[in-house]
Amino acid sequence: MSDTISPASEKVESEFIRDPEAEAEALEIDLDNAYGPSGFRGLLKSSNIFGLSLFASLGGFLFGYDQGVISGVLVMHDFETKFPRVGGDGDLQGWVVSIMQLGAFVGAILNSPIADKYSRRYSIAFANVAFLIGTGLQAGAVNTAMLFVGRFIGGIGIGQVSMAVPLWIGETAPPNLRGSAVTLQQFAIAVGIMVSFWLDFGTQHIGGTGSGQSTAAWRLPFALRALPSLLLLAGSIFMLPFSPRWLVKVKRYDEALLTLARLRKLPTDHPIVHEELLQIKAGARFDELTIAEKFPDAKSALQRTYQQYKELIVEKHLAKRLFVACFLQFLQQFTGINAIIYYAPKMFAAIGLSGNTIPLLATGVIGIINVFATIPAIGVVDLFGRKPVLMIGAGSMAACHLIIATIYAVYRNSWAEHAGAGWAAAVFIWIFVVNFAYSIGCIGWIYPSEIFPLGVRAQAMGIAVSANWISNFVIGLITPIMMKHITFGTFYFFFGFTLFLFFYVWLCLPETKGVPIEEMDKLWGGNEGQATKDRMERIQQELKEDDKLKSSNHSLSSDKI
Ligand code: BGC
Repeated sequence: MSDTISPASEKVESEFIRDPEAEAEALEIDLDNAYGPSGFRGLLKSSNIFGLSLFASLGGFLFGYDQGVISGVLVMHDFETKFPRVGGDGDLQGWVVSIMQLGAFVGAILNSPIADKYSRRYSIAFANVAFLIGTGLQAGAVNTAMLFVGRFIGGIGIGQVSMAVPLWIGETAPPNLRGSAVTLQQFAIAVGIMVSFWLDFGTQHIGGTGSGQSTAAWRLPFALRALPSLLLLAGSIFMLPFSPRWLVKVKRYDEALLTLARLRKLPTDHPIVHEELLQIKAGARFDELTIAEKFPDAKSALQRTYQQYKELIVEKHLAKRLFVACFLQFLQQFTGINAIIYYAPKMFAAIGLSGNTIPLLATGVIGIINVFATIPAIGVVDLFGRKPVLMIGAGSMAACHLIIATIYAVYRNSWAEHAGAGWAAAVFIWIFVVNFAYSIGCIGWIYPSEIFPLGVRAQAMGIAVSANWISNFVIGLITPIMMKHITFGTFYFFFGFTLFLFFYVWLCLPETKGVPIEEMDKLWGGNEGQATKDRMERIQQELKEDDKLKSSNHSLSSDKI
């Protein structure tokens, strides 16, 4: 008996192993519960899914590492000397940070067709090739142009993995673990940020932090990302299985069955595997039929894709969801999280934490806090719902910004005499990070993944992910300008957005926790929910009958032999 099956379903297996199709049908297997619990317990029980998802989350690690590494590098002495327009207070600083996000925006959009044509798995491999080229250019940069090109190409790879990895995990994990798996990705991002912060902190000492600093102080943290990336590249080529959903999409049904059985550690004729495959097939068939029915004139794949995007905009209830998904991503970025992630050492220096080491040390603390504050999200989001967690997070983030801005405004010219004030502001930066991590850090990704109907979910997610990157790009670009010109006003600016987020969630955002898919439609003013459900049931019925026919033909021909 596999360890992925809950006690209730153990009974199912022993009773039904003799005639899987008929018996699974009679039992009406509830897939959401058949594979056991969700959250930590579920992940620990399904060790292979946990291991594979964790491995794929190396993509999230690279995402976080790439975001985090730049902040420490920007303030390193040798880097500032070699790239005066980029390091320190250079006029191109915002651009060198943000060009990576621009690349990621492009990568996220480009990856949709790549992941459809060449598989999710190989798109992760392509992403790593781009990432490695970018890494080489950045670590070996001898001029500013090389640095820019390297960050842009590396960014394309990051944008690709940011879209491909959650897609692969979501399509590979059993239904009970999908939510936790999304959080795993956020956790990996946070770990990546933390590792890069501490690496910067360590390598800045190579040759000393002053004028003798070695060039390796910043080249090494840029270069070391190649290791996890090479690992992920090799793993995506030789180890990660194809997503069973993608295999069904390209009609490789036998492989889909084998892969699914192996992933679930069950025999290929097990009723639960059979039921899951049936549902995946039904989902794929549903998409095909819906598109064919809605857009009878769309003959080519390109035309159909165009129609799907169009539908997202012209159907009022879908457009509403698309707006909310993108707006949440925008607000996630405008909480100011990356203003801190990218420019923390500068910020700490600005609020009076002086010396070469202290700002980087305080930045390292952010990295650790961010990781640990992500962990409770796995439990609280499903326990209390999206809205209360978001509101508590947004309200607390707003309070932090207000306090930091005010301390900064009052003591901006007298940090030396008021060292305690600087440290108090630093503590509120840390508290801000805690409140980001358990709330919109995770929910910003979970919410869009659960509000769209199946037929347009991938397209909508692609748009939402790119909305995240483009907002991220803007933040990277404007933060140094704001810090230079409006100094403490930067925090009042983010205070405004976090306060807005609080009211927006309170007054406008529908709660989605525990809402079944057919009800979800009503929530947004759509009326296709019941029709969707009925159609899905009809397709499932047809597929089951198809299966039965095939197996009786098979036994007839075996009888003849
Ligand atoms: C955001 C990133 C951010 C990270 C911090 C993610 O959810 O999308 O932009 O840097 O959280 O942990």
